[in-house]
Amino acid sequence: MSEFILVDDNDGVRTIRFNRPDKKNALTRAMYSAAAEALESGQADKSVRVFIIAGAGGIFTAGNDIVDFMESPPRIGGGDMPPVERFMHALLGTTKPVIAAVDGLAIGIGVTMLLHCDIVYASKRASFKTPFVDLALAPEFGSSQVMPAFFGRVVAADLLMLGSTWNADRGLQTGLLTDVTDVDALDETAMAAARSMADKAPGAMRAAKALMQRPPEDLVERIKIEGTLFADLLQSEEFTEAATAFMERRKPNFAKFD
Ligand code: COA
Repeated sequence: MSEFILVDDNDGVRTIRFNRPDKKNALTRAMYSAAAEALESGQADKSVRVFIIAGAGGIFTAGNDIVDFMESPPRIGGGDMPPVERFMHALLGTTKPVIAAVDGLAIGIGVTMLLHCDIVYASKRASFKTPFVDLALAPEFGSSQVMPAFFGRVVAADLLMLGSTWNADRGLQTGLLTDVTDVDALDETAMAAARSMADKAPGAMRAAKALMQRPPEDLVERIKIEGTLFADLLQSEEFTEAATAFMERRKPNFAKFD
């Protein structure tokens, strides 16, 4: 474990916090390993239903620790799974919802990881920058594909080629963010959303996430896949609970499902 990664479990929500403020929460190999472990063990743990990824000290993260990078340059996809790859693999691989709460700076992989979260909140003082080309490096972990798909190519190039800094308003306008909050309201907003998601039917939540993660495909094919899932879920105990609760005019209780 790394002292710079704080992990807290509360009401079915696992919060993973980057906590190295004197180095702007720059991520080292040990930090990636600890964060990956928290995601992997949370994925396997039925009591964990939702993840929150956050920073500390008014910073999300200044990205990869540059000294660490130089000491041990990772080769992604080379088969030996360096810690940064293990972390991103765990993030992309989890079937549970992931909420990011960004306060202050998000740089480099601090932005890249947001592209693979389900909900992204940012405080009004958040800012976003991917200075890969400025550092004579290239985009990473799918961002060269996902950003043009999210924002359009010429808007993605503002981050990935020009290296501009986006403020929270720009993040919201482009679709990087779900919502922007006051600084003091960020953690509470993320936790309220996480608790709300933790209370929902986990199988249905997994289905929604898996569908949204699928690559683009023929729309008729997609409708068939959704239709099959929908029909399966209509037969599920989760749906029985939802429908019964509706008829009994009570809140559904999905606590027994995993
Ligand atoms: N890797 C390693 N150390 C980092 C770091 C990083 N990505 N980002 C910040 N730090 C360290 C600084 O070296 C400094 O350490 P020191 O106090 O021992 O000298 C400390 O964090 C504070 O940073 P500093 O630059 O003094 O703060 P600032 O408020 O003037 O600037 C940043 C903050 C984040 C804008 C600036 O540090 C920066 O540009 N960092 C690099 C970000 C980056 O390019 N990340 C992408 C990596 S792929």
